[in-house]
Amino acid sequence: MTTADSKPRVFSGIQPTSDSFHLGNYLGALRQWVALQETSDAFYCVVDQHAITVSHDPKVLHQRSRTSAAQLLALGVDPERSALFIQSQVPEHALLNWILGCETGFGEASRMTQFKDKSAKQERTTVGLFTYPVLQAADILLYQTDRVPVGEDQRQHLELSRDLAARFNNTYGRTFTVPEAYILKETATIKDLTEPEKKMSKSSSGPRGCLNLLDEPNQMRKKIKSAVTDSEAEVRYDAENKAGVSNLLVVYSALSGTAIDKLEDEYRGKGYGDFKSDLAELVAESLEPIARATREYLDDKAELDRLLTKGAEKARAVASRTLAKAYKKVGFYPPVAN
Ligand code: TYM
Repeated sequence: MTTADSKPRVFSGIQPTSDSFHLGNYLGALRQWVALQETSDAFYCVVDQHAITVSHDPKVLHQRSRTSAAQLLALGVDPERSALFIQSQVPEHALLNWILGCETGFGEASRMTQFKDKSAKQERTTVGLFTYPVLQAADILLYQTDRVPVGEDQRQHLELSRDLAARFNNTYGRTFTVPEAYILKETATIKDLTEPEKKMSKSSSGPRGCLNLLDEPNQMRKKIKSAVTDSEAEVRYDAENKAGVSNLLVVYSALSGTAIDKLEDEYRGKGYGDFKSDLAELVAESLEPIARATREYLDDKAELDRLLTKGAEKARAVASRTLAKAYKKVGFYPPVAN
């Protein structure tokens, strides 16, 4: 939907499933969240309802939702311009999830590759984990979203959201905007530092493979310096044959704004030592202020809660309008007031 002041609508979400976001979250998605605020009407959500699709500790989840919100503010999500909120504070997400679940084919849901990956790692797989992409579609469609900034691993879920929006509109008449994925090619998948054939991930990367935004600067330096490269000594981008070095070049280029071919020229004949030392400094310098700002937001609990309540109210105003439309279209009675 193009809003009254004609700005495109942007929505995205992140799970509060670890104590810190990582470099993949940051370069793959969160930097784009911040940049898109300039030109869009943005809604950004800490998706705690997604986080209970696998086993969890309630206290830890609650704390991580708060730390996640603080990190998003520290990264530059501006609560004056964008609605920043916690999913469970906006009940419309779960309500639209039910309607969309009844539009989703069982076979269609069974094709989601993230479910296959994630369920393989669980002792007990839940129906919630299976239908998770439907809740994700509800998240997006509630806001009449034009663009969804995410990393490559979310592309298939975005396709499902598009299919569900188009199908619903076809059956019941125009109700939802059909959203588009906004995935930056260069940083679509940041790789694990020790196993560069895998994506960096909070759940599957080992402690040295995943660089957390809240790591101590020295820990960050160590992780970059011990990143797996190859037996050559040439700083050159070749994703297939030099996955480790190529990943480091992507990170270097994204954080410095210098094109990869310029970096190759700069480090020609210098070997990996200099390259990694410079990158280690750049990473530590770029990310250290985020940890500091996160701590400041966490120190003022009342203010953080106030911002999140304000964000949830703004989100509900839009979400409830869309849900009312969908309820009417499928023949439901409207919810009664409390
Ligand atoms: P989540 O919480 O796993 O990840 C948050 C964002 O980080 C991106 N990302 C990466 N990008 C590049 N390289 C990586 N190694 C990397 N790892 C993670 C993800 O693509 C994502 O954009 N299902 C979503 C959360 C969600 C959502 C939504 C997203 C729920 N509802 C609605 C968008 C719209 C997820 O689990 O992301």
